[in-house]
Amino acid sequence: MKRIGMLTSGGDCQALNAAMRGVVKCLSCSSEDVEIYGFLDGYKGLIYGDFRILTGHDFAGILTKGGTILGSSRTPFKLMREPDENGLDKVEAMKQNYHKLKLDCMVILGGNGTHKTANMLREEGLNVITLPKTIDNDLWGTDMTFGFQSAVNIATDCIDCIHTTASSHGRIFIVEVMGHKVGWLTLNAGIAGGADIILIPEIPYDIDSVVKAINARAARGSRFTIMAVAEGAISKEDAKLSKKELKEKMKNNPYPSVSYEIADKIMKKTGMDVRVTVPGHTQRGGSPCPYDRVFATRLGAEAGKLILQGEYGFMVGYKNREIVRVPLEEVAGKLKMVSPDATIVKEAKMVGISFGD
Ligand code: F6P
Repeated sequence: MKRIGMLTSGGDCQALNAAMRGVVKCLSCSSEDVEIYGFLDGYKGLIYGDFRILTGHDFAGILTKGGTILGSSRTPFKLMREPDENGLDKVEAMKQNYHKLKLDCMVILGGNGTHKTANMLREEGLNVITLPKTIDNDLWGTDMTFGFQSAVNIATDCIDCIHTTASSHGRIFIVEVMGHKVGWLTLNAGIAGGADIILIPEIPYDIDSVVKAINARAARGSRFTIMAVAEGAISKEDAKLSKKELKEKMKNNPYPSVSYEIADKIMKKTGMDVRVTVPGHTQRGGSPCPYDRVFATRLGAEAGKLILQGEYGFMVGYKNREIVRVPLEEVAGKLKMVSPDATIVKEAKMVGISFGD
């Protein structure tokens, strides 16, 4: 008999359910008896012992469903070692609940913050297997995370829709794509949607270079320009500031988001009409795309296999087109960022896309 705990933590994304279903289907295809404990709303469920015993029925029909049947929440890693408002030691509480239920393993689905806590639980002696989820595709140790391709589809659809109206009106349009620290989503959706300018956090922009690219398009006879801008796009001058200085500067920032600031600067410098579209959380919503359904199912199956083999302490990831197991300590605390020298960036530049650098 195996007793497995499961939780989904951090911002949700598409295919969380597909991945959990993959794990459970794999286990139920084996001769092993399995009990599944689903902890609700992320690590909170494990801290406060809030769980449901799940059966195969709970995982039926969820392959195509977005969101997570377990609910999710963000419990920042830096707060894990701090007692809660009632003085509860969260880490001890998680360990106690794990041992009380006599769990063999926790299957934890999450992104960067989630992996830091998962690794800490491993260091604390719990058996942990993780699955890489996030629309940001910024987890170290895996070429791909599930949720990413679905989000690329949604952000691309958004840019596609903007294209038709942009061509009618001859305006500049900015589509703000999710990603505070990394630009994979913006880069891929930007290329797929035929954006003319892509701004990502890893390549600080110079507003004059952005304007130059817009003017060059106008000089070539293009009536409109489409920009894909990451939530975390940053100007060259701001990139030089320390974290503290930037925080101070942002206190007096009147713009709702970076795209509005860029739009304002472009309007002032060109006199052209600029419009901002923010698809926001729609990028994390809806049904997972077929790629993510397949990918999450494969990862889930491998996680099931690890459980049956009693091998713990790994994230199941994807490297060079193979499903792989990556030691958790190699993953935790590291971001996979877009290198300004990446071939995909060079190729985007080769087809005329400006990064405003
Ligand atoms: O989960 C990743 C992500 O969607 C980022 O792309 C985005 O910046 C952030 O989460 C939004 O977080 P929240 O849902 O907490 O507003």
